Amino acid sequence: MSILDKCREYTRADEVKALGIYPYFTPIQETTATEARIDGEWRIMVGSNNYLGLTHHPRVLEATHCAALRYGVGSTGSRFLNGTLDLHYELEARLASFFHKEAALVFTTGYQASLGAIAPLVGRGDHVFLDRLDHASLVDGARLGLGDIHRYAHEDFDGLSRQLARVPRGAGKLVITDGVFSMEGSIADLPRLVAISKEHGASLLVDEAHALGVLGPDGAGTASHFGLDSQVDLILATFSKSLASVGGVVAGRADVVNYLRHHSRALIFTASMPPASVAGALAALDVLIDEPERREQLWVNTRRVAAGLRSIGFDIGRTQTPVIPVLIGDTLRALTVWRALFDNGIFTHPIVPPAVPANACRIRVSMSAEHSSEQVDRVLEAFEKVARDLALVPETAVQMPSMR
Ligand SMILES: Cc1ncc(COP(=O)(O)O)c(C=O)c1O
Repeated sequence: MSILDKCREYTRADEVKALGIYPYFTPIQETTATEARIDGEWRIMVGSNNYLGLTHHPRVLEATHCAALRYGVGSTGSRFLNGTLDLHYELEARLASFFHKEAALVFTTGYQASLGAIAPLVGRGDHVFLDRLDHASLVDGARLGLGDIHRYAHEDFDGLSRQLARVPRGAGKLVITDGVFSMEGSIADLPRLVAISKEHGASLLVDEAHALGVLGPDGAGTASHFGLDSQVDLILATFSKSLASVGGVVAGRADVVNYLRHHSRALIFTASMPPASVAGALAALDVLIDEPERREQLWVNTRRVAAGLRSIGFDIGRTQTPVIPVLIGDTLRALTVWRALFDNGIFTHPIVPPAVPANACRIRVSMSAEHSSEQVDRVLEAFEKVARDLALVPETAVQMPSMR
């Protein structure tokens, strides 16, 4: 048996394509902050993480353009060698102060920030503890480390305490959580996690990917939302969501960041963030700070869509943020609903196993500050139509969006 045989035997994607409900790798031909042209037709984008709608902001566009002209399009090297620009240091300094930390280190993607922040810290004899619903990049970061991995059931804090208590007293311990869980839209109970981590002498890392620009008085994320910035040891974030670019960061104590800078394989053995992406993230951070009204509008849109989906009769779980899961059922049904929404001009994402359990497939809607009121109406109308057409909710539950 060849190691490649499994590839020939893998037919699932082709089967789903044959049914006309394959949702992945869809080529987008053109975009605005809130719409995407696909197959020649404009669809409302509620499947991106463009929370503040900054991908097309004039200041961000201009900064990326100028950086490309000044530094070229690529860094053509590792941060360690020729790939560090003054802009990388500027972004690190800005983010350290934004997260109220001593220092920060910037990686080429958010995924790499997870690998690069976790793996070097979790050596042989150390222990890392992850919520079952933590993002895959955090799990992969832990797997790349040489320590022992413990997963606790989602928000099972008693289970986490028991696991921590079983670890030898002197061992290094790192608790890792998403700030906002990316498939649920729920906010982690950081006060509990801080207390438990302290009780057991563990350090705490929070991934603010879906909370940056969304939560906290200044948009700095979950730790700031709870006023716990100083109690969280390490903050991770990505630039691919509210900051409209690509890249990632870890922020924390200066000695920790210095250690990571010199031990992180995900930083050293890859090319650095391209100049335009760094400049774009910097400009987006400026806009995030200068235009707090964007965050307010994001919440207005979020509340409208969440209330609208509930009044149609959908179960949207325990979401508390612009990430809104619409629970559908099994994979086939979720893909069918995704396709129906797509045909009605709405771009969403179906979330199916292994990201979620087989009977908890969902359509994930992510709101943006840039969605207009009219676009919000159209999204809700499409969901309502699809709910009726596919009998997704009890007949009596379906109400006209105008009644909301
Ligand atoms: C919670 C979380 N962490 C990390 C990442 C990785 O970030 P990036 O896509 O910027 O590499 C993501 C992206 O989906 C995420 O949702």
